[in-house]
Amino acid sequence: MILDEDKNIVVKCRHIKKTYGSGESKVFALRGIDLDVYQGELVMLVGPSGCGKTTFISIISALLEADNEGFCRVLGEDLSTLNSQEKTYFRGHSIGFVFQAFNLLPALTAVENIAIPLLIQGVNRAVAMKRAQTILDLVGLTSRSQAMPGELSGGEQQRVAIARALIHSPKLIICDEPTSSLDHESGQLILELLRSFVKKEGKTLIVVTHDNRIFNFADRMAYMDDGRIVKIETNVRTPDEKLL
Ligand SMILES: Nc1ncnc2c1ncn2[C@@H]1O[C@H](COP(=O)(O)OP(=O)(O)OP(=O)(O)O)[C@@H](O)[C@H]1O
Ligand SMILES: [Mg+2]
Repeated sequence: MILDEDKNIVVKCRHIKKTYGSGESKVFALRGIDLDVYQGELVMLVGPSGCGKTTFISIISALLEADNEGFCRVLGEDLSTLNSQEKTYFRGHSIGFVFQAFNLLPALTAVENIAIPLLIQGVNRAVAMKRAQTILDLVGLTSRSQAMPGELSGGEQQRVAIARALIHSPKLIICDEPTSSLDHESGQLILELLRSFVKKEGKTLIVVTHDNRIFNFADRMAYMDDGRIVKIETNVRTPDEKLL
């Protein structure tokens, strides 16, 4: 059900809070987050370790439930109204998520890992594998297609995870530290790939990062601290900047 009048709004969060645990061990991970993200935007979320970044993007992608306050609407869906089957469908079709710890399946090859989202959707195996190979080429891993995750370097695993997040052409891509294991050059290439995916295909991207070498790829920067967004800045570009 489309709930927002503004069709270009992809994420609309108000007063999102999240506490973990109870009693003395209670952690106030999010203390009231408001954020709007629009179609075609690349928003980076930055802030110190433990400030709530992973918690926040896990809520946006329906991997985690917020406390019973405020609301989070993503692609027109009020996430609090979805049952677990609907959340699985929503994630499988609309979201591409790159986990901080990659979460590759150890018994599958690189190319098979990338194909998973399409196989889950019921796409024919040969078609899924062909498309997976194409994306694997795009992230520069052509020769590693048959390698198992355990045989890949951290940076290679990260690129497999990014390819897996793009293969089903999701409307919203969410990446948790996508360049943490990449050298400068690979990091720039991955951000160029992600940014062109967003700009050419009208997708939307939220990137959690500590890596100031990639800040210039963002349209907007949202700074978090202690469970809150404390500042949002728009990146101003000069006309000769070559970004899409
Ligand atoms: N499952 C959990 N149970 C209890 N506390 C948790 C849980 N997950 C996260 N926390 C706590 O919530 C707070 C926010 O954690 P979160 O993982 O969102 O931070 P982060 O900004 O992603 O940090 P980092 O940059 O280190 O990845 C931290 O204090 C963390 O210890
Ligand atoms: Mg984190």
